[in-house]
Amino acid sequence: MIAAYSVKGGVGKTTAAVNLAWEAASRGFRVLVWDVDAQGSATYLLRVKPKLRGGTADLIHGESKIRKAVRETENPRIWVLPADQSSRDLELILNSSKKSTQRIEKALGDITDQFDVVILDCPPGASLLAENVLRAADVVVVPLQPSPLSLRALDQVAAIVAGTPKAPAVVSYISMADRRRGGHRAAIQQLPEGRADVTSVVVPATVVVEKMGELRSAVAEYAPRSEAAVAYAQLWRAVEKRAKLDK
Ligand SMILES: Nc1ncnc2c1ncn2[C@@H]1O[C@H](COP(=O)(O)OP(=O)(O)OP(=O)(O)O)[C@@H](O)[C@H]1O
Ligand SMILES: [Mg+2]
Repeated sequence: MIAAYSVKGGVGKTTAAVNLAWEAASRGFRVLVWDVDAQGSATYLLRVKPKLRGGTADLIHGESKIRKAVRETENPRIWVLPADQSSRDLELILNSSKKSTQRIEKALGDITDQFDVVILDCPPGASLLAENVLRAADVVVVPLQPSPLSLRALDQVAAIVAGTPKAPAVVSYISMADRRRGGHRAAIQQLPEGRADVTSVVVPATVVVEKMGELRSAVAEYAPRSEAAVAYAQLWRAVEKRAKLDK
């Protein structure tokens, strides 16, 4: 399982989740995107109705209910577990559950045979939900904004990840780079080479990516030759390698 995660909000997690799902699907993987963010942005971008059959409580407690809640998308190799109103209660539901840090891992156990890749789109923060997600993840994808603080954000995530039982691999990248800005160029250069959790992937800040919200699709679908689409393809290859997906 792959988690798009950061302690920070608005850094490009959902954008990454959707574009990575698209890349994985176009390489032949069957992909499930589980939208665990009540904002429902991934659900929206993948053109799925924000309606979770059975609600979040059933998903977390119910036996195999998760199979019934999975929706198809227009891409034959992408499915979605949507977010809806009930997703707002996820944190509370986890809180009152037994083995409260393992619920997502358990729920995923019921469907792993159906998909090659599961991508979770997480809300920001270091919540019990995040603990659940990191516990179940094989790879954590961390978008970084090009600022002097980006390494600090990465170190925070790395520390949280290191404290989880399985300690998933971290794959970070620059998610909204404007190379015309000196501060951005400097921040990109300051990212250390040779650190296992830092990739050389740089997604430019561009209207091409912004358009996803309007067109409700992945960049590679409507602008396959754009720099952003190429960067997400590169990011997928890095993720694939770390997740040891053999295909
Ligand atoms: N490379 C980019 N260029 C331009 N705009 C971008 C880029 N990446 C993301 N955005 C825009 O920035 C906003 C935040 O991106 P996104 O929703 O992916 O972040 P997030 O980390 O999931 O946010 P949240 O913490 O609210 O879930 C969106 O409007 C998105 O379209
Ligand atoms: Mg998001």
